[in-house]
Amino acid sequence: MRKPIIAGNWKMYKTFDEAVTFVEQVAENLPTAQKVDAVICATSLFVPTLTAIAQDSELAIGAQTMHYENEGAFTGEVSPAQLASVGVDYVVLGHSERREYYNETDEAVNKKVAAALAHDIVPIICCGETLQERETQQTATKVTTQITKALEGFTAQQVAHFVIAYEPIWAIGTGKTATAEQANEVCGIIRHVIADMYDETTANAVRIQYGGSVKSENIDELLAKEHIDGALVGGASLEPQSFLALVEAGARVND
Ligand code: 13P
Repeated sequence: MRKPIIAGNWKMYKTFDEAVTFVEQVAENLPTAQKVDAVICATSLFVPTLTAIAQDSELAIGAQTMHYENEGAFTGEVSPAQLASVGVDYVVLGHSERREYYNETDEAVNKKVAAALAHDIVPIICCGETLQERETQQTATKVTTQITKALEGFTAQQVAHFVIAYEPIWAIGTGKTATAEQANEVCGIIRHVIADMYDETTANAVRIQYGGSVKSENIDELLAKEHIDGALVGGASLEPQSFLALVEAGARVND
């Protein structure tokens, strides 16, 4: 049985005080980590403070991107070694906004996954299609290519611990959620790709999240689906009560 994982992706929201207040409130009120993993992915700038506040709680702290090199002349970047040195547990890689605005390629995502592994940071690997790709029946090809390239070169044991997030680009921040059936279908395709690359055991171990306008009103239906093991949440992760409601939905799945 896969443990649900609910991750908030705060993107470029929240000031320092707002982030601290949120984590203080949420860290104390989470369900047990035996039932659900709860993660907040904040700006790297706040990560050291947030990991310190969350240290004795069930809340894990993640970053939203990183470089694949450990150090070097890369002005403005954050390295995996730097993130690991401040206690980061997870990192979001290949988010569609990074791919679109910062030219993050499948090859770069693959290198970043290797770098995350080297530092014991769990990668949350994002994939997903545009509206045009969906309307022209290219969803399966797009997602299969992204996942195949991201996972190239890793062992089954390594892949089993990865988290994959299926985020259809047309559903991000639009209020338009994919139906639970649409989301499950693509998460199932991703699992099939992993079974082809590795084996059924590995495919059944990998946790696959859905992301795109997830909120408390639709999370139960999504999590009830066979291949959906959690959510990567933008807007609805910004308020403590809203984020907690999503984590609680995750905790109920295996009750
Ligand atoms: P929304 O939940 O705001 O649609 O954002 C989804 C997302 O991009 C999470 O990474």
